[in-house]
Amino acid sequence: MILHVGFNKGGTRKTTVSLMLALYFVEQGKKVAVIDLDGQEDMSRLLGKKDNYKGEGSEKLFKQTLEKEADFPLLPVENWECRASIADKLFYIPSLHGKLADINREGKESYVKCFMQNTKELNKHFDVIILDTPPSLILTQMASLAAAQSAVIPLNADANGCGIEKVKQYFALYNSVKRKFNPSLGLPAVVLAGVNIKGKQAKSYIEWAKDFFKSRITSKYIEDSAAVANAVAEKRAVWFKTVSGNDRAKGAAYRRVLEDLVKIAEKKA
Ligand SMILES: Nc1ncnc2c1ncn2[C@@H]1O[C@H](COP(=O)(O)OP(=O)(O)O)[C@@H](O)[C@H]1O
Ligand SMILES: [Mg+2]
Repeated sequence: MILHVGFNKGGTRKTTVSLMLALYFVEQGKKVAVIDLDGQEDMSRLLGKKDNYKGEGSEKLFKQTLEKEADFPLLPVENWECRASIADKLFYIPSLHGKLADINREGKESYVKCFMQNTKELNKHFDVIILDTPPSLILTQMASLAAAQSAVIPLNADANGCGIEKVKQYFALYNSVKRKFNPSLGLPAVVLAGVNIKGKQAKSYIEWAKDFFKSRITSKYIEDSAAVANAVAEKRAVWFKTVSGNDRAKGAAYRRVLEDLVKIAEKKA
């Protein structure tokens, strides 16, 4: 499965959800590759890319047809922990800020097609490919949607950052990519992944989102919680090796939301 994670706004927890999904799939026995398509390199840094890294990154997938697994700039993830061993199960393709900026600036349609072909090829060697994308409607976002078999949209329960206008802009790109490159792409699966339940605003946003996305949004949401920051700092799945009762409850709830999210993403609509 090739799974796109995206939205046109920073901070909606795209990278965190992508990473936790990757660990969730590893726990299911799947071999997973995460491709970082965001020039901010957040995912790459989390997964272990060094500042002095001199190799190739995800830009390579836009420019040349790759034929063997060894042609892909895959790096093993080493330090993360979840309920299963990540050894030989979790890999990533890093993003290189400047090189991805060139891809987006040049903006060639052939890049989109090349990326589609390469991810399809890579999917022969992996059970799941997760595409973590930039918070903007640029070529790398389009290419990811063009290559995806399913899509996930993480949103914050915040009408200013993730309101109807933003959602409409995203769907305009989504639908045009679907029409042009990827007719079998179904509706995305949506998750509210940054919810401050104490805010009055959040309640009305949650109601709006449930009504708007209907069966395509998870029934529970992911609350804002220090449990997530703790897990990321300790390089473990939010639900794994929790140290306090609160973290344990938040971690278990996080995992249940991901389970629901994956089911929705896999269901074509
Ligand atoms: N449920 C959560 N509660 C609190 N903080 C979170 C949660 N999920 C993610 N974060 C933090 O929020 C910040 C933004 O998340 P990130 O996944 O990088 O967003 P994006 O990729 O959409 O820009 C990060 O510092 C991350 O650790
Ligand atoms: Mg990100």
